Amino acid sequence: MSEWTWPTPGISYGGDYNPEQWPRHVWDEDVALMREAGVNLVSVGIFSWAMLEPREGEFDFGWLDEVLDLLHANGIAVDLGTPTAAPPAWFYATYPDSRVVTRDGVVIGPGSRGMVSPSSAAYRRAATRIAGELAQRYAEHAAVVMWHVHNEYGAPVSDDYSPQSVAAFRDWLRERYGSLDALNAAWGTAFWGQVYGEWEHVGAPAATASTANPAQQLDFARFTDHQMRACFIAERDAIRAHARQPITTNFMAHQSYNTDLWRWAREVDIVSDDHYLWSPDPEAHIGLALSADLTRSVARGKPWVLMEHSTSAVNWQGHNIAKRPGEMRRNALTHLGRGADGILFFQWRASRSGAEKFHSAMLPHAGTGSRVFREVVELGSTLGSLAEVAGSRVRPQVAVLYDWESLWAQELEWRPSDRLGFRERMRTYYERLWRDGVTVDFAHPEDDLSGYRLVVAPASYLVTDAAAKNLTGYVAEGGTLLVSCFAAVVDEYDAVHPGGFGTPLRTVLGVATEEFLPIRGAAEVELAGERLPTEVWAEHLVLDGAETRGVYRGGPADGMAAITRHTHGSGTGWYVSTALSVEALAPVVAAVYADAGIVPPGRPEGVEVITRHGETHDYLVAVNHRDQDVRLDLAGTELISGAEVDGLRLAAGATAVVRAGGDRAGGPA
Ligand code: GAL
Repeated sequence: MSEWTWPTPGISYGGDYNPEQWPRHVWDEDVALMREAGVNLVSVGIFSWAMLEPREGEFDFGWLDEVLDLLHANGIAVDLGTPTAAPPAWFYATYPDSRVVTRDGVVIGPGSRGMVSPSSAAYRRAATRIAGELAQRYAEHAAVVMWHVHNEYGAPVSDDYSPQSVAAFRDWLRERYGSLDALNAAWGTAFWGQVYGEWEHVGAPAATASTANPAQQLDFARFTDHQMRACFIAERDAIRAHARQPITTNFMAHQSYNTDLWRWAREVDIVSDDHYLWSPDPEAHIGLALSADLTRSVARGKPWVLMEHSTSAVNWQGHNIAKRPGEMRRNALTHLGRGADGILFFQWRASRSGAEKFHSAMLPHAGTGSRVFREVVELGSTLGSLAEVAGSRVRPQVAVLYDWESLWAQELEWRPSDRLGFRERMRTYYERLWRDGVTVDFAHPEDDLSGYRLVVAPASYLVTDAAAKNLTGYVAEGGTLLVSCFAAVVDEYDAVHPGGFGTPLRTVLGVATEEFLPIRGAAEVELAGERLPTEVWAEHLVLDGAETRGVYRGGPADGMAAITRHTHGSGTGWYVSTALSVEALAPVVAAVYADAGIVPPGRPEGVEVITRHGETHDYLVAVNHRDQDVRLDLAGTELISGAEVDGLRLAAGATAVVRAGGDRAGGPA
């Protein structure tokens, strides 16, 4: 890693800036308004390849020189993009074989944006050349404080079934398995007579008559992730050959499907993330919190940059809901509370033309007299007053297990129920913890978990032997583990664990599963005299030492154990074999908290308070999502207003950041 400091003093604030879409005189207005809004960081050049290299090998940096000089003269730092997410028309014309082929054999054309084949040697050459040219030219430019490689790897396209991708997949498999025998064994090719006798016959899991081999599909997901990361690493290294500034690429956390962010985060200097509210969800701020916690967790707790969010509506969902007054500020401060030291938007000025003209921006079409611009200026001033929060850390007591490989595997076809999804379970458990005011980290199942009082596994369909050993050891040493249904079913090849479902966790949970019993209609679980409604999923559990805490009433598992608790070593393992709702989970997790010694802070509903621990003080970031005022027992200096508070009245929809009185005054869990 290169030597570097955080890109700006205090909290970074700004957005994507695309001056190439505007005449020169507009740039002057842009920088003047950026100053007014307190902008100190903009991402430039992300989609500018065609303007920077109009013909192959011919570069035109004149306009970018001028943009960077202008920004620097106005005290605005630059996160300089490599434009490789949108290759120019000449690239597609010269290297037509570099185009992505979809699973159904459709060749993806130019005229939009999106990566060409991540396995294309011509693309790799062209991308590293433009990245290297930029780095050489701007490594010493005073405006450039960070590098932004590509844009959202994995979106909008990643899987590629072109001949070059198939050849690269084969090489990757040779490297992984060494021999065809090993590959045949791992993929279970004896099933449906898929045994391979020649490497040349092994291909990508393109369109097939019936479902394709699941282990092959899972490996193809790993391969695709690997190829995209190799593209990133090649560009990163081309930059590092010349430049010392930190390098990032913008992730999409919980919204990303094709990138294993645990692996990606190891390759960047600063983790950055894009997040957009999901319009159909009336409580999309809970998904936002999840995304922010996941981003901080892949960053291993270090400060990260919210590289993109929106000031108001997006334009790419079906029915795009504008943010209500104050909502943008709540969103931004929630990200900040959960560890972001940079709050940026897509984009600075709304585009007049092109696919995103109906997307909100910091400076909307309606101009500076608009509500949105007023709120943007206000947010800039707020973030300016929070400089001392930068660098402080969130330190939760609870970890939620998140594994992209398990997501890929669980979402393959022909599972016992397509109504039991990874993301849905993740959100439901997360939301339960969020409503209880319990802040969480996410963790990989093979991580060291010893620092957490409680580990929750909402969707751990794929569990490796190493992960099972890790979880078992964690509980043996005193940890509390809560595992949700359909867990530890398969290994890393999507093969059922020998001995049956759940076997790897049998020691720690004292239970395994004989049969899955998806529910037609609804059933109930009786827990300590209470009847909890459930649907979708039940299991026939076989107890091996665990005590029964909840029992199925009605449905296919009527009278059988539904929820179990087991003591292993000095800790406890819980298993919830059905897909409980957020509400129905409340009494279950209350019992689990008690085992783990966790006392939820008991905040008013719809209010989040997150603690960031600084070197000398704790900072409590409070966000009121309700339409009513609330009172919070926070004391100290409210940094935005400068007021001393002892008990804080937080107005409907308002936010506050309190530097806790005295050193390290306690905050919520
Ligand atoms: C992001 C993308 C941006 C912009 C934005 C619109 O996914 O990185 O370039 O398209 O979406 O919401």
